[in-house]
Amino acid sequence: MGAQQWIAMTVLCATFFQICRAVDSPADDKLLSLPGQPRVSFQQYAGYVTVDENQDKALFYYFVEAETDPASKPLVLWLNGGPGCSSVGAGAFSEHGPFRPSGGGSLVRNDYSWNKEANMLYLESPAGVGFSYSANQSFYDLVNDTITVQDNFVFLQNWFQKFPEYKNRDLFITGESYAGHYVPQLADLIVKSGLKFNLKGIALGNPLLEFGTDFNSEGDFYWSHGLISNPTYELLSAVCNTSQLWRERIGNSLSASCSKVNDQLHAEISYAIDKYDVTANVCLSFGASLLGVQNNPLTPRFRLFSSAESLQEALSQQKAQENIDPCVQEETFVYLNRKDVQESFHAKLVGTPKWTFCSGVVNYDLRNLEIPTIDVVGSLVTSGVRVLVYSGDQDSVIPFTGSRTLVEGLAKKLGLNATVPYTAWFEDKQVGGWTQVYGDILTFSTIRGGSHMAPFSSPGRSLALFAAFLSGKPLV
Ligand SMILES: *[C@@H]1O[C@H](CO)[C@@H](O)[C@H](O)[C@H]1NC(C)=O
Ligand SMILES: *[C@@H]1O[C@H](CO)[C@@H](O)[C@H](O)[C@H]1NC(C)=O
Ligand SMILES: *[C@@H]1O[C@H](CO)[C@@H](O)[C@H](O)[C@H]1NC(C)=O
Ligand SMILES: *[C@@H]1O[C@H](CO)[C@@H](O)[C@H](O)[C@H]1NC(C)=O
Repeated sequence: MGAQQWIAMTVLCATFFQICRAVDSPADDKLLSLPGQPRVSFQQYAGYVTVDENQDKALFYYFVEAETDPASKPLVLWLNGGPGCSSVGAGAFSEHGPFRPSGGGSLVRNDYSWNKEANMLYLESPAGVGFSYSANQSFYDLVNDTITVQDNFVFLQNWFQKFPEYKNRDLFITGESYAGHYVPQLADLIVKSGLKFNLKGIALGNPLLEFGTDFNSEGDFYWSHGLISNPTYELLSAVCNTSQLWRERIGNSLSASCSKVNDQLHAEISYAIDKYDVTANVCLSFGASLLGVQNNPLTPRFRLFSSAESLQEALSQQKAQENIDPCVQEETFVYLNRKDVQESFHAKLVGTPKWTFCSGVVNYDLRNLEIPTIDVVGSLVTSGVRVLVYSGDQDSVIPFTGSRTLVEGLAKKLGLNATVPYTAWFEDKQVGGWTQVYGDILTFSTIRGGSHMAPFSSPGRSLALFAAFLSGKPLV
């Protein structure tokens, strides 16, 4: 074949490709209504974006357009951590999506939904998490940061083919916990690719940014919140500190000395404390069974109920006293496992019998926890990407103290001076938390009373923080 024929064919294929893409329209993914859902005026979409045709690997997304005037509002991608936990179950249904399952099969509106401020895109990643899948299951044998970020990058490019009107929209990438890896790594890949995404900023909630600093701040947090005794606190500094404890747990090789400290910690803290929210009540599991869910390090521990009935029983005992529903994850589990819900969502279960909060199939390379991402955050700041690191201040797993130290250290390293000094910020006439801004581009904020999943435990304060972040104005 001559050169000209090749060129002609390439042009033809490119044109044909365009046509194929045009057929792959968002209309197919539009949700009519979810079972039990109240009427709403905004549009919702859900479905799959293929990230590897050969291996039939596809990522599931749930896209919620802004409640009002979506064309004028930014696009926000949200990623939960784990590694291996679902952004639909955690982010959308437990934290800041438009609906919450209320038990009894219905959904109620979330008054603090982030789609009041933005068009929200929830992505279940990597493949093997939630409804996302790889038909070739060998993919699950070893997944890591490099693979996850690459697939997320391909996802975003292909998603923009489905929703071209969002391609030039202001883009923010946000997430929590282990997304302290996913988010900066994805943003960095976008910046380095030179693709014309309109990336404006990233926001990270209780993020893992640097193993030693983040995990070593746990001991002080336990002690200062009264969770452990003086002698146990002394053991942490003299015998085995909390970052060492994590390192050994991840490597599945607890030394005798760390094992002793570990036992002492567990005995004092009590099984009935949620380490991700030390002041909250836990969801009590009456007659419940613990289903096997892979217990990755940053997976909030939750109990899964053996049946909808045992869940209802637990709920009726707890609901009345609480504004915040401690059983939202269990209800979400029941809801997302309904066949009619999965059908409405255009979701399918491939190679797994159930939708789970955190993947039971993905074998994530946990050595990646030790990869520091704080300098990736630094290089984003240098590229002009706005950064917010926020912390629910009742989380003992990635405590605010570690994040504050890391952000301050980064500001120093980059030569950014404080443009807003450390100061309380307000929401609804009460202190929402404290905040500090460096060089008008790097912000640290706490959410007072907030958990590891702050938008769940402190929805009003989290929404105020989110709105300020998008607008680029400091919290006041
Ligand atoms: C499935 O994936 C594995 C690992 O990624 C690869 O080595 C293998 O060739 C794949 N199998 C097929 C049938 O493509
Ligand atoms: C992830 O796995 C790939 C393939 O084995 C490897 O090339 C890459 O270096 C790994 N990345 C990390 C961060 O471990
Ligand atoms: C924690 O313990 C490890 C192992 O003993 C040590 O290398 C590390 O420096 C300690 N970290 C702190 C902050 O003391
Ligand atoms: C930051 O503050 C220091 C000390 O006040 C000053 O010397 C420096 O010029 C400031 N840097 C910037 C970028 O404003």
